[in-house]
Amino acid sequence: MDVRPLLHRVADEAGDWFDALPERPVHAATAEPAITGVLGDDPTDPATVVADLARETSPGLLAFGSPRFFGFVIGGAHPAGVAADWLATAWDQNAGLAGPAPGVTEVEAIAGAWALDLLGLPEDASFAFVTGCQMAHVTALAAARHRVLADAGHDVERDGLVGGPPIRIVVGEERHVTVDRALRFLGIGAAAIEAVAVDEAGAMRPDALREALRGGPTIVIAQAGNVNTGATDPMDAVCEAAGEAGAWVHVDGAFGLWAAASPSRRGLVRGVEHADSWTTDAHKWLNVPYDSGLAFVRDTEAHRAAMAVTAAYLVHEHDGGPREPMDWTPEFSRRARGVAVYATLRALGRSGVAELVDRLCDCADRFAERLAAADGFEVVAHGLNQVLVRAGDDEHTRATLAATQAEGTCWPSGTTWRGRSCIRISVSNWQTTFDDVDRSVEALVRAAARQIATT
Ligand SMILES: Cc1ncc(COP(=O)(O)O)c(C=O)c1O
Repeated sequence: MDVRPLLHRVADEAGDWFDALPERPVHAATAEPAITGVLGDDPTDPATVVADLARETSPGLLAFGSPRFFGFVIGGAHPAGVAADWLATAWDQNAGLAGPAPGVTEVEAIAGAWALDLLGLPEDASFAFVTGCQMAHVTALAAARHRVLADAGHDVERDGLVGGPPIRIVVGEERHVTVDRALRFLGIGAAAIEAVAVDEAGAMRPDALREALRGGPTIVIAQAGNVNTGATDPMDAVCEAAGEAGAWVHVDGAFGLWAAASPSRRGLVRGVEHADSWTTDAHKWLNVPYDSGLAFVRDTEAHRAAMAVTAAYLVHEHDGGPREPMDWTPEFSRRARGVAVYATLRALGRSGVAELVDRLCDCADRFAERLAAADGFEVVAHGLNQVLVRAGDDEHTRATLAATQAEGTCWPSGTTWRGRSCIRISVSNWQTTFDDVDRSVEALVRAAARQIATT
């Protein structure tokens, strides 16, 4: 089979998608695209399959990669990452295996080291390429679970949690839900979680943390970048208090950890390097295409003990082989997702990553300033690349959000903060400029005015 025409066709389709992104309405044209749902008895030509797929899904595609997509915390796809990811897909290497796949595992090793360096983390920390921050939490917290129990004389890999001392989890009240879910996956239930008080913006209060620390196997989970407000826990104080109590500190830095890559924003996460493990996403602020998360662990022995697998047919690092990626991730076989991270980091360079962090923060600042000055709007919270606003009462805010999304110039999403409905603006796309911010502010103001006119 000659694959070239098919791949060229896909390149054209993808090029059209990229070209259209800046001006395409951000919302999907329909929530119910009509996609061929019948599996034929006979084969279908791959060219037909792809052409149908592109045509039939198109109306149901939301422009997540638009420079005016501000929902959730969703980065776009930098072309370097997309192109490298395509290559990685075509190569189809099993990146869990260093021996048979040295090309991609070496690329991933370089990308892991670059990420540690850019984020200002210990250069000898271990890393793992996983699907996203959710599984990065599972990876890093498994290492934490290993260490705090091993220090208490319990071998969790051999004996499981049964018979071991309880682990206390100390977190801020405003942690992300993926933290609780990761703990659940690790057999640590909600009853083990002690949530400490946070300040106005949702950052952990160091005095409340100190009160909660009582010794025994303890994992403190801090956050760099609250999903609503962008607030970051005071890392210096958190690490100091936890260090005195002998607790492990894990940092959820899904997007906020990237502040460390900018000389002018690094101060916002000062002290983060003193933690024991960190998680972040490449598919958020770094704009690597989905799916791409990273876990880093200072205690490499604990990381490896929690994840390593052995089988007679596998050659391992400890047998004198190279670094075996599957010994550091929950996945056994997996795609070489670190290749897209490598390509994106290399294309941006150190200054490009810093510029990306700074520009998106500057765009969020501009959103906050302009909306604070707009009639009927109230800026409820603002930090890093996140802005929370209200347009009148709950009902009017929700109606303004729905009208803005329906109009299509931009696409913020919604949330509830401190019991009040808000419009969430997360500036996470590599192409967003001040012009996009201004067009989006105008769209929000128009939508709010239309709501007033119709009530
Ligand atoms: C602070 C924080 N932690 C964790 C996550 C989960 O990330 P992922 O969806 O990549 O698993 C998010 C997602 O928005 C987040 O904002």
